[in-house]
Amino acid sequence: MEFIQIQGGSPLKGEVSIQGSKNAALPVMAASVLVPGITVLKNCPEISDVSCMCEILKSVGAKVTREKKTLIIDASEIAHYRLPKEYVTRMRSSVILAGAMLGRCGRIAFHQPGGCVIGDRPIDLHIRALKQLGAVFEEEGESLSAYADRLRGRRIVLPIPSVGATENIVLAAVLAEGTTEIYRCAGEPEVRALCDFLNAAGAKVTGGGSHHITVEGVARLHDVTYRIEPDRIVAGTYLIGTLAAGGDVFLHNAPAGQLTAVTGPAAFMGARIQGGPEGMRVKMAGKIRSLGFLETGVYPAFPTDLQSPMLVAMCQAEGKGCLRERIFNGRMDVVSELNRMGAKIEVRENTALMEGGRRLCGCSVTARELRGGAALVLAGLCAEGFTQVYNRCFIDRGYEDIVRDLSSLGANIGSEG
Ligand code: UD1
Repeated sequence: MEFIQIQGGSPLKGEVSIQGSKNAALPVMAASVLVPGITVLKNCPEISDVSCMCEILKSVGAKVTREKKTLIIDASEIAHYRLPKEYVTRMRSSVILAGAMLGRCGRIAFHQPGGCVIGDRPIDLHIRALKQLGAVFEEEGESLSAYADRLRGRRIVLPIPSVGATENIVLAAVLAEGTTEIYRCAGEPEVRALCDFLNAAGAKVTGGGSHHITVEGVARLHDVTYRIEPDRIVAGTYLIGTLAAGGDVFLHNAPAGQLTAVTGPAAFMGARIQGGPEGMRVKMAGKIRSLGFLETGVYPAFPTDLQSPMLVAMCQAEGKGCLRERIFNGRMDVVSELNRMGAKIEVRENTALMEGGRRLCGCSVTARELRGGAALVLAGLCAEGFTQVYNRCFIDRGYEDIVRDLSSLGANIGSEG
């Protein structure tokens, strides 16, 4: 069985280029269904979630070709509306195809989506909003189908700013009749990126990246070429890795402006960070200082996707620490594995209470989800001796090659098995 092996204890030193964003690429790929022609996506990350989305797009009739990081999607003909269970259950973000498929062909059928095991992840907000735009849903066991003769724009107020639900509404509204206004929507950079992509293809979307988006329906989109922006979560992972293990690194293309909720705490903990148009330099020398308390939140607050990596850094500091997860229930699976490595973390509801400053020791650990898996690799960098991280497939969902990247940063890391 394949595993990642890390020999811990040495600081990171070197440079790495940050890949394209997973959470921007996936909704933009779904949006390509609305373009009755060619979509060219540049800087598309070479990760398994993107491959999975390619298979789903092919299954509905799109022709997808890939040349390294450039993806060419020809959605001139969309002939099917049933998404294959095999891929949909593997990746939760497949649910955003609902809005795009309803917009393009007025129909969709899919199995309840899967994805990372990070607690309850219902899709009730997606369904409720699509119904408000005129879709009719039918449920049979775990299968869902929906149809709409005509989607009609209207005013939608989300109870919580769900990223996926916001994206789904925008996608359904682009070709709908009239204007859709979304209040209390997600303001994440990836939602803004989706709106930018759609506008480049001829849509009329304003307010992307804010908590109020307006979509004026248009009759048709046109061919488009779009560049996926760098992944703030991957950049944040390597930043936190340097904070935890020490070192001096340069993260090419890291979007410093999207990471202020991470650079602030990291600077407090002792890192020296310089961000600019070319990327970010992170220097960490000496003892890591305790942060005390941190909680996740919706953008621009500290991202839930970096909660597990940050747990590793916070464990390195002397004294008590507390990290509260406010977005997902049950996103603390990684704690039991970190404790096996010598950490002392107790989970109470969605809060991790830790006694920091304990030396981690390498051992065999198992990734159970994407970001928790990346956190285990970071823990391996800090630990004494060798750490083997099993279930690499979870990490490959979002990181092009974490072994390659951390090797560029001087880590003693390899892949075996
Ligand atoms: C997206 C990201 C994920 C990130 C998350 C929060 C992608 C592919 N994934 O996930 O990496 O961690 O945003 O920034 O972009 N909720 C409901 N009902 C719904 C939908 C969501 O109750 O119908 C709840 C969720 O359980 C969660 C909260 O809303 O507690 C936020 O989830 P959401 O913003 O929708 O996350 P995703 O879009 O799934």
